Amino acid sequence: MSKNLDKLKDKIAEAHKGGGEKRIAKQHEKKKLTARERVEYLLDENSFEEIGILVTHRTTDFGMDKQKFYGDGVVTGYGTIHGRLVYVFAQDFTVFGGSLSETHAEKICKIMDMAVKVGAPVIGLNDSGGARIQEGVKSLGGYADIFHRNVKASGVIPQISAIMGPCAGGAVYSPAMTDFTLMVEDTSYMFVTGPNVVKTVTNEEVTSEELGGASTHSTKSGVTHLTCANDIVCLEDIKRLISYMPQNNKSAPGKLPFELGDEHREMLENIVPDSSNKPYDMHEVIKGIIDDESFFEIHKNYADNIIVGFSRIGGRSVGIIANQPMSLAGVLDVDSSKKAARFTRFCDCFNIPLLVLVDVPGFLPGTDQEWNGIILHGAKLLYALSEATVPKVTVITRKAYGGAYDVMNSKHIGADFNFAWPTAEIAVMGAKGASEIIFRKEIAESDNPEEKLAEKEAEYAEKFATPFEAAQRGFIDEVIMPKDTRRKLIKAFSALENKQVLRPNRKHGNIPL
Ligand code: HXC
Repeated sequence: MSKNLDKLKDKIAEAHKGGGEKRIAKQHEKKKLTARERVEYLLDENSFEEIGILVTHRTTDFGMDKQKFYGDGVVTGYGTIHGRLVYVFAQDFTVFGGSLSETHAEKICKIMDMAVKVGAPVIGLNDSGGARIQEGVKSLGGYADIFHRNVKASGVIPQISAIMGPCAGGAVYSPAMTDFTLMVEDTSYMFVTGPNVVKTVTNEEVTSEELGGASTHSTKSGVTHLTCANDIVCLEDIKRLISYMPQNNKSAPGKLPFELGDEHREMLENIVPDSSNKPYDMHEVIKGIIDDESFFEIHKNYADNIIVGFSRIGGRSVGIIANQPMSLAGVLDVDSSKKAARFTRFCDCFNIPLLVLVDVPGFLPGTDQEWNGIILHGAKLLYALSEATVPKVTVITRKAYGGAYDVMNSKHIGADFNFAWPTAEIAVMGAKGASEIIFRKEIAESDNPEEKLAEKEAEYAEKFATPFEAAQRGFIDEVIMPKDTRRKLIKAFSALENKQVLRPNRKHGNIPL
């Protein structure tokens, strides 16, 4: 017994050394925490329970039998974040560059299976040179085993990936299939083929950072949802993200204690400018509606003509989707449609109610948009919002024009409550464009066409560019004063708490991917 006890102590001590002091020092030199330090920081104090600490790889090829590390390059287990159970894996770059062997993959699969069984989120901290080169197809198979589990767990438990070092080749597809990807600035990158292959195949010269760094993926590709200044910020962001989510698709997100008080917000009265074409910052509207400091913006630097993020309204977790008039006048385009559609589907999977704030002049015209498939991408958002069965509430602050009116959570596609501010303009198109078409003859024949156009524009705007026609038809439930918005929303989400929707029996729909 005591012999084995001593052996156990030695093995555990060895496992804690990872790939050795030199490699740990190298990790710190790069301003990266080690896998164990990351797990310790992420989880509540003393809550981590490790699984598989004594696992070693099985390969004997290329002299691998002479070099074994306990844990085989990944720390796996479970613990709590703010008292809530989560499963976690953290790749250890100090062991064979965190590369994924057959056994390394088995360890990850084991905790993913457990997380699904008990209904708890999985968090992956990625820092890896990819497939363990010495293991060949066994390693590729290991990746595929993880991918398959990512898909089976999708919509069942929240899955979060942090990229805290290299993530290259097919390895990128596991994070891509999880719900949220965070990247650490300067120390992480993601790409399917690295700069050397790019140079050989396309003759392009590009650095790893330019090709797949945090900044690239947060602005150009949209692959990452959050970029973080360093490891600590990344781990803090994960904790915050988790706080808005439920444990799984069968449970509701946690509710903070809340009592209805004076919920009027005068600041909302003066946000929308008098001139319909002047921009304003939709973040100000969000600030005036939500519980203090509760907005956590996702995909902030990507497609900023739409804002998405989590917040709390009356203590409840709510997903917000909002057109941003400050950027491209808040139009819907390819990227903003994809961004909002993906966010909608996450919220719908995990019982997070949706608030849609609308100020949209329509879809962005042009060959670039048409040739890049705005038809299909716009349809994604339309599909996602139509399909969502969580409580759905809309507030139109100003413009809701054309097809974008339908898409942005209109009553017709299943919104539960539709409110509009008195400044709302709901019509097929703007007054100028509409007048030029329907009064063309009259304007052309007039002695003063310019004056005639202005007169017709005013006539059109008076009739259609208001919320009243829509309210008369019941497409808008209530025209509300901006200052009352927060109160209305708190009551609306409370009234929708037990919303249930029966869905037709089908395998799944066919969202235009
Ligand atoms: C085995 C690996 C490894 C790998 C790194 N190491 N990657 N061992 N398999 N894939 C080892 C190194 O030999 C080294 O061992 C240690 O990890 C640290 O690596 P360094 O190169 O010293 O670190 P650094 O300079 O920071 O460079 C990191 C790196 C580089 C950029 C990731 O190591 C690298 O290019 N690795 C190969 C990446 C790769 O091509 N992977 C396969 C991708 S294809 P020692 O003993 O010297 O410390 C793929 C397919 C997945 O992954 C498909 C899924 C479907």
